[in-house]
Amino acid sequence: MIAHLFNAPVGESETAVGVGTIGSSEAIMLAGLAFKRKWQQKMKALGKPFHNPNIVTGDNFQVCWEKFARYFEVELKEVKLREGYYVMDPEKAVEMVDENTICVAAILGSTLTGEFENVKLLNELLTKKNQETGWDTPIHVDAASGGFIAPFLYPDLEWDFRLPLVKSINVSGHKYGLVYAGVGWVVWRSKVDLPDELIFHINYLGSDQPTFTLNFSKGSSQIIAQYYQFIRLGFEGYKNIMENCTANAKALKEGIEKTGRFDIVSKDIGVPLVAFSLKDSSRYTVFNIADSLRKFGWIVPAYTMPADAQHIAVLRVVIREDFSRGLAERLISDIGTVLKELDAIPAHIVTSTTAHVSAEDGGHVKKTVREIQEDVTRHWKTFVNEKKTGVC
Ligand SMILES: Cc1ncc(COP(=O)(O)O)c(C=O)c1O
Repeated sequence: MIAHLFNAPVGESETAVGVGTIGSSEAIMLAGLAFKRKWQQKMKALGKPFHNPNIVTGDNFQVCWEKFARYFEVELKEVKLREGYYVMDPEKAVEMVDENTICVAAILGSTLTGEFENVKLLNELLTKKNQETGWDTPIHVDAASGGFIAPFLYPDLEWDFRLPLVKSINVSGHKYGLVYAGVGWVVWRSKVDLPDELIFHINYLGSDQPTFTLNFSKGSSQIIAQYYQFIRLGFEGYKNIMENCTANAKALKEGIEKTGRFDIVSKDIGVPLVAFSLKDSSRYTVFNIADSLRKFGWIVPAYTMPADAQHIAVLRVVIREDFSRGLAERLISDIGTVLKELDAIPAHIVTSTTAHVSAEDGGHVKKTVREIQEDVTRHWKTFVNEKKTGVC
């Protein structure tokens, strides 16, 4: 069903294969291993060195790509972002491809802004480069969120197996697949894209059981839940839910825009989320806003963008099925209250009022409110830059 949703070719020579995983992270590890093994087989056959594989991806990658790279010894070649452009630039990505590139990883629904990368253009540019060089560099699409959005909302958008270089796609069942946490999927275009030597066959459970996962035993509840959702909701049901999420994201975006204080960095076509930055951060920052919103029970992550857009800090709200219009209106109202509270600290107090705060040696030091705010901001930034936070 998922392969069909992603327009996998069905025929005698090509039949999609796939596995259920714990989430997109495991799915990406497996897809990465398949690319690495295929590339190694090819390099060995050509009598060429096969010890320095790399993956080209945007610096907006989710941490699981870094995990894969480090655990399985593959270099990550990152396409830098820039202010106003927060996804992988396909032209730059293709320029970075070399003979050791096992795949280019495109993201359908960037974790940071929800934006869909232009996989169609990437496919075109890479096809040209492959023709010129004689290489056959493939594409993987990390559709952790977008895989269960694009097929329902943007069926004409070509990002999936309709593009010949797309050999595998991952998607999280527990994001817009509408299942509780613990299920993801990876689908390969065809059997030839998943090297046989990665598949283990065991027979001690009564019959031949092929397995290609990092863990062996696993509960079947998530698989059943995913199946139930597919059957229960059907294509129309998923479409209605995704349309509703998008309408609620639009309402939230409009409410945030109305404050006049923020720039929206997320796009209308993408994951239903709103990512926004402060127009003026001279008195307080998005980190202060995130902190103040906690009083109202909201946990809205604030984070800085990756290189080369680190100076941009945003807040992000992801709209899922249970984020109703009523909740969107409450959040808009609470953001308004927080802005009023932060604005109400007079400028001279921000710069001159002092308070006693705990010092590292256990004593107390006097600091201005501005200094305290800067400490908080610095603290959050270190936290985010070290990627200790879970952005999912
Ligand atoms: C683009 C992207 N890829 C991969 C992941 C990892 O997915 P999972 O949490 O299902 O392992 C996420 C989010 O968590 C994501 O946003």
